[in-house]
Amino acid sequence: MNKMQTIARIQGGAHENQSHESGHKHVAGTAEYIDDIAEPAGTLHAYLGFSERAHANVTDMDFADVLSCEGVVGILTHKDIPGVNDLSPLGLNDEPILITDKVEFFGQPLFAVIAKTRAQARLAARKAKVTYHDLPHQLDAREAKAADYPMVVSPMKLERGDIAAGFKTAKHIVSGSMQIGGQDHFYLEGQISFAVPGEDDDVTIYSSTQHPTETQHMVAHALHVPSNAVTIQVRRMGGGFGGKETQANLFACVAAIAAKKYRAPVKIRLDRDDDMEATGKRHDFYVDYQVGFDDDGRIEAVDASFMARCGFCADLSGAVTDRALFHADNAYFYPNVRLVSRPQKTNTVSNTAFRGFGGPQGVVGAERIMEEIGYYLGKDPLEIRKVNFYGTDDRNLTPYYQTVEDNIIQRVVAELEESSDYAARREKVLEFNRNSRVIKRGIALTPVKFGISFTKTEFNQAGALVHIYTDGSVQVNHGGTEMGQGLYTKVAQIVAEEFQIDLKHIKATATRTDKVPNTSATAASSGTDLNGMAAADAARQIKARLVNFACETYKIQPEEVVFEPNNVRLGAQVMTFPQFIQAAYAARVQLSAAGFYKTPKIHWDRDEGKGRPFLYYAYGASVSEVSIDTLTGEYQVERADVLHDVGKSINPALDIGQVEGAFVQGMGWLTTEELWWDNKGRLRTHAPSTYKIPLASDRPRIFNVNLASWSVNREETIRRSKAVGEPPFMLPISVFEALSMAVASTADYRVNPRLDAPATPERILMALQRLKKQQSA
Ligand code: MTE
Ligand code: HPA
Ligand code: MOS
Repeated sequence: MNKMQTIARIQGGAHENQSHESGHKHVAGTAEYIDDIAEPAGTLHAYLGFSERAHANVTDMDFADVLSCEGVVGILTHKDIPGVNDLSPLGLNDEPILITDKVEFFGQPLFAVIAKTRAQARLAARKAKVTYHDLPHQLDAREAKAADYPMVVSPMKLERGDIAAGFKTAKHIVSGSMQIGGQDHFYLEGQISFAVPGEDDDVTIYSSTQHPTETQHMVAHALHVPSNAVTIQVRRMGGGFGGKETQANLFACVAAIAAKKYRAPVKIRLDRDDDMEATGKRHDFYVDYQVGFDDDGRIEAVDASFMARCGFCADLSGAVTDRALFHADNAYFYPNVRLVSRPQKTNTVSNTAFRGFGGPQGVVGAERIMEEIGYYLGKDPLEIRKVNFYGTDDRNLTPYYQTVEDNIIQRVVAELEESSDYAARREKVLEFNRNSRVIKRGIALTPVKFGISFTKTEFNQAGALVHIYTDGSVQVNHGGTEMGQGLYTKVAQIVAEEFQIDLKHIKATATRTDKVPNTSATAASSGTDLNGMAAADAARQIKARLVNFACETYKIQPEEVVFEPNNVRLGAQVMTFPQFIQAAYAARVQLSAAGFYKTPKIHWDRDEGKGRPFLYYAYGASVSEVSIDTLTGEYQVERADVLHDVGKSINPALDIGQVEGAFVQGMGWLTTEELWWDNKGRLRTHAPSTYKIPLASDRPRIFNVNLASWSVNREETIRRSKAVGEPPFMLPISVFEALSMAVASTADYRVNPRLDAPATPERILMALQRLKKQQSA
C-alpha cells in the first residue's frame, strides 16, 4: 500500500468528529417535529380531562357542558376502547388508558374530548362535571408503607457474603439515611401523537415514542387489531430522557382510538403544565444504610435498602429499582453485602424511566456511604473511595456475582486528580475556609461505574435495514430512535465506514415499525451498541455479495476487492463506488439487506440474584468545586473537571456533548429541580415558574470535559466504543458532595451534614442551621 492510501480517509467515518445530522436544522428551525407535519384537511384534535382527586371512586361524569362547547365533535371514555384498556408494559392490567370507575392520582386521564381545534378541545375538557367519592390517599412512600400499601411489583434482593459476620469484625459501624428527589424530564418537545387512519384496520401514528414497537403493540391491543395493522413512525423527538420510553403510549392510544372512531386524522399534544402533572418522572428514593469498616475506611459490610415512590402502577418501576441495586456498589467492592429494594405504591403519577434508570439513586447511596466514612475517620473522602475501589482477583465480584473484568477506575481517577490539580486545590479550599466567614468552599471527586445492557436480556437485540440505490447513495434504517443524542449520526458513520464512502452519501431515515420490526426501546444507553452493530451487519452482508460479484465478474480473488475511500479497487482497476454499484445492479446483485445483532455473554436470574446482566461497564470521574453563601444558602459551581470513558469514541464531538449535557442535567437533579405535591396530591411544581432546571448561568464557571482517549472497549462492541447516554449523568454527584463539604466546613468537618437531594439553597441553609444548633447544644 502506498503512502497516499494509508492516509486517505473518507469524510465522516467512525471515530471522527461530526456535527449532529440535524444540528443545522435544529438551529434553523427546519427540523420537522410531529407538530410540524402538515395536517390533512379534516384533522381533529384530542385533549384529556384529568382527575382532581388523588384517590376516589368516580360515580358520575356529566359531559353536557362539554358537548355544548364550540367545535366539540365527541368524547372518548373507556367505553370507546375496542380492545384492552391497559398500558402496562408488563401486561399487569394496572394502568388504564382512560379510567373506568376509580382514580388513583391527581392528574389521571379520565376521558378525552375531540374537537376541531386543540384550543377548543382543551377548553371543553375542563367543563366536565365529575362526581368523586373520596378514598384515603397516600403520597409519600414511607407513609404508604406504614399504611400497608402494597408494592407495585415484587422487590429484589442482592446478597453476597455474610453481613452478620462482616459487621461483627468491623471496628466501626455507621448508619444513616437520605431522601433523593425525583426529576421531571423537561423534554423541550412535550408528548405528542398524530394518528392517521387507513383502510380496514390500518392506522399510522406519528408518535414521540422512544419505543415504537411497544407503542405499536399498545395501540393494537387497544384497538383489538393485529400488530400488522399498526405502523408507528418517529423521525425525531425533542428530547426523551426516558420520559417517552413507556409514557408516550397513552397519547398514541388516545389518538388512534379517536382516529378510528371518527375516521379522521387526530392529533393530541398536551401543554407543559398538563404534561408535567399527567406523566411520570424519575423515582424519588429513601435510602437507609449501615456500613461496617476498619481504621483505614475499608468496608467490611454494607446493608442497605432502597425504597422508591413508584406511583399508582408498576410501569417500569421493577426494572428501575433493580437497577438502583445494581449500582448501589458504584465502583466499590463490598465484601459482605445485602441490598433490598421496595417499589412502593403511592397515589401519585406512575414514575418511569429517566436517564440512568434508578442507577443514579443507587450511586448517590454509595457515595454518601463513602462520605460518612470519611467524616467519621476525619479523612478526605477520596482516600476512602480509593481503598474501596474494585481491584483484581479477590476484590472484583459485584453483589450480583458479575466479575468486574474491565476495571479502569484507578487510572481514570489518577489522571483526573492530576489534571484537575485536586490535592493542591483541596488544600486551598481548606485554607480559604479558615479565612472566609460568609462564603465557604467545598471540593469533591466522585467516580462512576455504570453497567451497559438492558437488565432484561431479551431487550438486547436490534435490527437494521440498509439499501444502496443505483446512484451509489445509501439509506440506513434501524430500530433506534433519535432524541437529540446523535444516534442517527453515529449509525450513518458506521455505515459510511463499512462502505468507505463519505458520510454525505448516507441518509438515515425515520424509524418505522414496518421497516424494522420487533425492536427494543432506545434506552439503557444501548442505541448505538445495538443498532450500530445491526447496521454494520446489514452493510457487511451487502459487501459480501459485492465481493462475490466482483470475483466472478473480474476474475479476481476476494483479497483483491478493496473498498477504498469512495472507490473500489478490483485487482488492477479502480472504479468509483457509484460505478461499481451500477455494475453490480446490472448483474442483478441484491443491494439491500436486513441486519441483526444480539448482545453476547449476558444472562440474569432475578430470583437467584446472580448472573452477568451487563456486557461491560463505562467509567468516569469528576471533580467539582463550589462556593456557598452561608447567609442565604445560595451557591455557585466554580469549576468542574470531567474525565469520562466512552471506549474508542465513534464521534468524540457528540460524546462530549452527551457528557456535558448529562452533567448539567444531573446537576439540576441534585441541586435545583424540586418536585412538590400538596397534601391533596396535586403537583404544584408544574412549569418553569416553579420548577427550576439549570440555566446557562448555572453551568460550572470553568468546565473541563475530556474523554479517556486511551480507552478501548475490551468487549467486541461496535468499533470498540462504549455507550455514553446515561453514565455521565452521575458525574455531578461531585457537585452534591462538594456542597456537603462546604456545609461541613462550618463545623470543622467533624460531621457529615444531613443533606437530602436536591440540595436547594433552602436545604443548604437548613443543613447549616442544623449544624449550628448541634454545635451549640
Ligand atoms: N440526549 C439527548 N440530547 N436527548 C435525550 O433525550 N436521552 C438519554 C441519552 N441522551 C437523551 C440524550 C437517555 S435516557 C438515553 S437511555 C440515551 O440517550 C438513549 O440514546 P442512546 O442509547 O442512543 O445513547
Ligand atoms: N434501562 C432502561 N430502560 C429499560 C431497562 C433498562 O435496564 N429495562 C427495561 N427498560
Ligand atoms: Mo434512558 S432512561 O434508558 O431512556
